Amino acid sequence: MQYAKIIGSGSFLPPRVVDNNELAAELASRNVETSHEWIFTRTGISQRHLADNGVTTSQLATKAAQAAIADAGINASDLDLIILATSTPDYVFPSTACLVQANIGAKGGAAFDVQAVCSGFVYALATADAFVRAGRAKTALVIGAEVFSSILDWSDRSTCVLFGDGAGAVVLQASSEPGILSAQLNADGSQMGVLNAAGNVSHGKVVGDPFLRMDGQAVFKLAVTVLSESAKQVSEQAGISLSNIDWLVPHQANLRIINFLGRKLGVPESKVVVTVDKHANTSAASVPLALDAARRDGRIKPGQHVLMQGVGGGFTWGSVLARM
Ligand SMILES: CC(C)(COP(=O)(O)OP(=O)(O)OC[C@H]1O[C@@H](n2cnc3c(N)ncnc32)[C@H](O)[C@@H]1OP(=O)(O)O)[C@@H](O)C(=O)NCCC(=O)NCCS
Repeated sequence: MQYAKIIGSGSFLPPRVVDNNELAAELASRNVETSHEWIFTRTGISQRHLADNGVTTSQLATKAAQAAIADAGINASDLDLIILATSTPDYVFPSTACLVQANIGAKGGAAFDVQAVCSGFVYALATADAFVRAGRAKTALVIGAEVFSSILDWSDRSTCVLFGDGAGAVVLQASSEPGILSAQLNADGSQMGVLNAAGNVSHGKVVGDPFLRMDGQAVFKLAVTVLSESAKQVSEQAGISLSNIDWLVPHQANLRIINFLGRKLGVPESKVVVTVDKHANTSAASVPLALDAARRDGRIKPGQHVLMQGVGGGFTWGSVLARM
């Protein structure tokens, strides 16, 4: 039996850290009122990393990819598949995956982007797993990367305080030993109204709304429901009960959603990786950033079972259960 095993991870955050007080002061100068207290108590977010103007998703992704490749101990030339998840690509085309391929000096094999907003990394990981298990790729780079600040409306306090920028990546390799055990992806396009950035570039102009819009309460309710169902499905598929999960690495949108989910699944807080306090919601980058943080500080160890979950615009959601 052929598996895809995670053999390395890496991440990169833009150096500029903006805490809630600094953000509140900056927004006050635009007559937008918020506070550390409001942001922290509703979301658990204390700070976020924001890219400087002109910094692109491919630049963040390239740094995360290089760190993952070094961690895996492979060469970029070994890669025969690159999948990058983002909602903030550098260009309409080429894909950001192709830009990263050129930046890291990889050649050959497929490179493409996946667009599933905050579920993007989980979608990309499940896709790469399918390629590897089918024998269509041997060594895959999977990236989640965003300059999400570029699609925020800084006059809308109900959304602009929630997000940040960053990138995370993993290297998957074909292995006879169990790696990814099960994966589950879902979408419900009829819910597109709860979270979207419904604009595009057409005939030389931005058409529609280029900024993210969200019905926060609707997203909250949907997220908790779909993530708990999805977790149960992947654990059944893999034959690993939720009580035997060593780490839950959920999408990092909001600490209240994460805590609610943990309680619903019976996973204690000590087994949940949380980075939303420091990174805010980095959309497709949030899960690989959290995974990499917990691998590097020694919490996630080889042989452990890790449940990764994404949820976001589309509406999309999904889970991947991996043995590390
Ligand atoms: C966004 C979220 C934090 C808002 O919390 P909430 O308790 O639902 O708050 P509401 O939207 O009901 O707003 C409550 C009040 O706070 C105000 N408010 C909104 N944003 C604010 C901010 N940044 N600072 C201060 N006040 C704010 C609202 O205007 C409203 O005021 P009003 O009662 O006078 O009208 C919450 O709904 C949430 O976390 N949703 C999930 C979002 C998410 O995770 N999205 C990403 C998924 S991928």
